[in-house]
Amino acid sequence: MCGIVAYKGHKKCFPILLGGLKKLEYRGYDSAGVACFYNNKINVTRRVGKVKELEEAINDKKSSKNCEGLGIAHTRWATHGEPNQKNAHPHLDQSNKIAIVHNGIIENHEPIKKFLRSKKIQFKSDTDTEVLVQLIGYFYNKGKLNFEQSVRAALQRVDGAYGIVVLNKDHPDMMIAARKGSPLVLGIKDNEFFIGSDVSPIIKHTQRIIYLNDSEMAVIDGSSYDIKSVDKDVSLPKKVEKIDYKIDDFDKGKFKYFMHKEIHEQATTIDNTLKGRTTKDSVLLHGLSEYWEEIQHAKNIYITACGTSWHAGLIGKNLIERFAKVPVHVEYASEFRYNHSIIDNETVVIAISQSGETADTLAAISKANDFGAVTVGICNVPGSSVSRETDCGVHTRCGHEIGVASTKAFTAQISILYLLALKLADSRKTITKSALKKHLAMSNAKNTGQIQIKSLLRKEKAIKKMAEKYQKASDFLYLGRGLNFPVALEGALKLKEISYIHAEGYPAAEMKHGPIALVDKNLPTVFVVPKDHTYDKIISNIEEIRSRKGKIIIVTDSKDKILRDLADDLILLPKTNQYVFVILATISLQLFAFYIAVAKGCDVDQPRNLAKSVTVE
Ligand code: AGP
Repeated sequence: MCGIVAYKGHKKCFPILLGGLKKLEYRGYDSAGVACFYNNKINVTRRVGKVKELEEAINDKKSSKNCEGLGIAHTRWATHGEPNQKNAHPHLDQSNKIAIVHNGIIENHEPIKKFLRSKKIQFKSDTDTEVLVQLIGYFYNKGKLNFEQSVRAALQRVDGAYGIVVLNKDHPDMMIAARKGSPLVLGIKDNEFFIGSDVSPIIKHTQRIIYLNDSEMAVIDGSSYDIKSVDKDVSLPKKVEKIDYKIDDFDKGKFKYFMHKEIHEQATTIDNTLKGRTTKDSVLLHGLSEYWEEIQHAKNIYITACGTSWHAGLIGKNLIERFAKVPVHVEYASEFRYNHSIIDNETVVIAISQSGETADTLAAISKANDFGAVTVGICNVPGSSVSRETDCGVHTRCGHEIGVASTKAFTAQISILYLLALKLADSRKTITKSALKKHLAMSNAKNTGQIQIKSLLRKEKAIKKMAEKYQKASDFLYLGRGLNFPVALEGALKLKEISYIHAEGYPAAEMKHGPIALVDKNLPTVFVVPKDHTYDKIISNIEEIRSRKGKIIIVTDSKDKILRDLADDLILLPKTNQYVFVILATISLQLFAFYIAVAKGCDVDQPRNLAKSVTVE
């Protein structure tokens, strides 16, 4: 995914565009670029690498620094074409009149390129984006269509996904944005307009937002705007929404890394997620009310998601089957969209996504909608595509997550799944009123977020010290059982993503069926060990690794001597119940991965090759 920011107004563009790009950098950081008007020309500056490279280039360029009024900017996560300068956005058409920034993939770029080449148009980059800007330029330069009509004509001929903003040298007072499959929002402040791939570059300037839907375009001309259809020349009525994000969400505060800040925020975010959603004897999830009849009578449930959100889905399956006794299947969205799952109008499909913009998850929702299933979104971003394209849903309310490695969104997702499992169980009468009350009392903030997470965070120094000791390891195994198998998967994913150390999560007992071959004195294995019914079995698994001289790291809430004797290192969590244990163990493994990555000098918030949300298939 890439980040787009654009500005039209009376101010100097660069502080706004660069400030915006810095907020968007989490979406991609292979290259960055800007285009704006200067001396009646569109002036483009692009650099490989992060926004700071671009900033230095602009500071050396009078033409760039002084641009006023209108500009577009982009930070890239490469899909088509290497991350080099010629492939960086913005791209220009052959006549240098039209400039574009684009997020998404133009799937039929090859035949269009062939057609344009036959019209003597030469390409300067390897990107699919250049094909789109050349096509717009081709229509415009033929002279029969105006700027807006040329953009529409080109968009009607492309397949795939796009979020674009386009400038035209002949129209220094105009900017056109359009979306299909890649999010775009328009911010409005008196006579100023801001466009972003999300609200992060806009929120500092205005809270008045229009979310563009697929196949909509925003035509900004002078001091007015019009939201129109890409398919035909008609205006669409659109509501301006007032969003109430906190600007603090987009700053690191006292922390050096967003990921670190977001790990710490879990002491309060879980409370925010749960707040107002329970009484002492019932679960209230108002977002599901309209479809609750269908949801409670579901014949089966599919949970679909990617990455960390998929791990949350595995925990959701365990909880829903445990409490509500409905069969649950958990599928990677990228598989679900093409497989042969049995879905009909008695199926409920739950899509989990932090960003609400993951392309595979959106495709999975669309398939489920086509099959007549009730679709439920569990999502962190109000107004996102997941929120809009599902029948109903619940927002996780943990605040904007910027660190590429997801942390607070995961614990918020599992908190919602816990409530959903209890609500289903209550409606289906598979839980007694007294057991339900006990669970609801347990989900009370005093017992979870506030006290135990804070107490765990106070042990951060010890986790840091332990992480530093293991920074040189080249491989890790993470093992857990039951609810803690997904915790092991998530711990391994965090380590891989930000420290580039190979790590695998496995069900603890399954380790005997293959991964045990990897064990030697150099391989650390992290065991997640709650003091529950799995305890004795896991001890046997630990013995199996130990007898092969593997290093043992144990995450537990038990003070048993047996564990201390078996462990090379041990993270002792506050004593808790099996559900809160999952959250505490996850947070301790987030910290462990974080400190290993910091010790190795890795860029924790912007790990190589990754982007915060993957808006391409
Ligand atoms: C998590 O650390 C990852 N960066 C990634 O696996 C992420 O969870 C996945 O891409 C899904 O994103 P979403 O929740 O925004 O849909």
